[in-house]
Amino acid sequence: MTTQKPIGLFDSGVGGLSIMKEVRRLLPQEDLIYVADSKYCPYGEKTPEAIRDRARKITAFLLAQGVKLIVVACNTASVAALNELRAEFTLPFIGVEPAVKQAAMFTKKKKIGVLATGLTLSGERFTSLVENYGGGLTVVNQACPGLVEAVEAGAINTPRTEQLVKKYLEPLREKEVDVVVLGCTHYPFLRPLVEKLVAPGVQVLDTGAPVAKQTKRVLVEKKLLAPSQRAGKEWFYTSGDPTVVGPVVERLWGGKGAGVAGLPAPYLA
Ligand code: DGL
Repeated sequence: MTTQKPIGLFDSGVGGLSIMKEVRRLLPQEDLIYVADSKYCPYGEKTPEAIRDRARKITAFLLAQGVKLIVVACNTASVAALNELRAEFTLPFIGVEPAVKQAAMFTKKKKIGVLATGLTLSGERFTSLVENYGGGLTVVNQACPGLVEAVEAGAINTPRTEQLVKKYLEPLREKEVDVVVLGCTHYPFLRPLVEKLVAPGVQVLDTGAPVAKQTKRVLVEKKLLAPSQRAGKEWFYTSGDPTVVGPVVERLWGGKGAGVAGLPAPYLA
């Protein structure tokens, strides 16, 4: 039955698990297949063409697994590839984007900060997001090289990662923003550090919950929602080394014995 087919999710690495956690919370009945494209991580340092190529390959893999919908659980891949994926494939795609709209509603000082990859911040999607919702606001954009790599290594609370986060928050502190947007799906795993280092009263936002809600909305609209009485399962794949990626996935997913398999050869290059 189509409704019982899995949902596919992918990211450059383990960051998209922050989105998958919210999807799992909202949709416990759905089967989920996650692809961490670890061999090509970080996407933020690739060309849009290279990211599109990977997005097509992973989509082909997920389609071969019979998925009914794909969540592009990566801001950078959404910037680089979402339009093309929607044009080239017929199944529904859900993308992610930094929570500028929500930040605009929350900020009292009319000053928000956005942490993301350089590629996300320089993309047309982000520019129009700020044009549409950031009118009248001071928006402080901060690229954060090194943070994705830290999360990939499972270094989510080391002194070095804390130092990096502190450095990237400095310009936002100087401008006295009162909302910080985590505009990369890896960064919610650094939320405790960010919350520790921002000034008191600053709100920290990510997009996991809204993306999960949007996923549910689309499944309902397309009559693809799995029956609520079933218990969903999860499968994890990586284009990297499963013995390296596996323990990090297990840690970030919550130690639920998540086995990680290697992506089959045709989808690796
Ligand atoms: N999780 C990806 C994002 O949301 C990370 C990008 C990268 O690999 O550089 O943008």
